[in-house]
Amino acid sequence: MEKKSSILVVDDKVGPREALRMILKNKYEVVTTEDGDSALEYIGKKEFYVAIIDIKMAGMDGLQLLKRIKEKKPDIEVILMTAYASVDTAKKALRYGALDYLIKPFDHRDVTEIVGKGVAKRMEQLKTRLEIERLYMATSELSKKVDDARRNIENHYASTVKALLATIDAKDQYTRGHSERVARFSAFLAEKTGFQHDKILSLEQAALIHDIGKIGVEGYILKKQGSLDTMEFDEIKKHPQIGAKIITSVDFLQEMKPIILCHHERFDGSGFPDGIRGSAIPLSARLVAVADAVDAMLCDRPYRPALALEHVKEELTLKAGKQFDPDVVSVVLSSGLLECYSGIFDYQNI
Ligand SMILES: [Fe+2]
Repeated sequence: MEKKSSILVVDDKVGPREALRMILKNKYEVVTTEDGDSALEYIGKKEFYVAIIDIKMAGMDGLQLLKRIKEKKPDIEVILMTAYASVDTAKKALRYGALDYLIKPFDHRDVTEIVGKGVAKRMEQLKTRLEIERLYMATSELSKKVDDARRNIENHYASTVKALLATIDAKDQYTRGHSERVARFSAFLAEKTGFQHDKILSLEQAALIHDIGKIGVEGYILKKQGSLDTMEFDEIKKHPQIGAKIITSVDFLQEMKPIILCHHERFDGSGFPDGIRGSAIPLSARLVAVADAVDAMLCDRPYRPALALEHVKEELTLKAGKQFDPDVVSVVLSSGLLECYSGIFDYQNI
């Protein structure tokens, strides 16, 4: 059997209380009480759909009780009863949040109609609340799934980058350590240049594998101790394009492409592979180009010893606007990044 909706009747006179019980008892569960305090006690313990309250009661009157009920359980629909129908009373009742009012003596049809309206409204509210709760649960579930998927992608992404990095390291000893240092310096530089946190992280990951294309360059060229001849240098110059090709089939690595492809472009257009210049070179690639050169200058190479910090600064100044973006060089020289960077990495023992 379907559970009946509960109605609370509050009147200090037994006559109206029982009259309402008789009218409503077949359709609803009717609870009656004689004053405001006991009414509030009932409301605290039981879920009522509608409360019917007499306005004129000893102690707490109907309007006061209406206010208290709305503070405690705002969803309960309240109907006020009065023996003296007046526009003022009606206005007051409605202003305090009552649904409607009944005039004593009751008209049977008025009572069933107004109470029916209150119960229907309350049921509608409950349905809406249930729907909101269901939607909230579904949204929480969905956002948990999105979080899990994102974490999965991030793990996948990090392990792919790690695997690619290990592949270059195995082939070219110079890139071992170099890639990590370039990535760190690029991230410092991106931070000083005003990149947002997520962009800094993706730039750092891209800088880690900026030389991935060296996988496709003959090992003897990468390992050669002396200077390279023209043909060998032409081979080396292919690594940005080879790198871009390697990541082409991996969707989530696509945002790394500008760095991999353009990290040897020069600000004045004399770089490779495309000879693009100035702002046509993506800013992230201009940052990595400076980081790449700084790290190379600070390291011993087969053809020259490591440069002192002052010498690196002179080189950067000399090549600002030519090889390097002058704004990026200016950030490096004015931010103390070089000192900080060379302090972090032990260049003497590389
Ligand atoms: Fe490179």
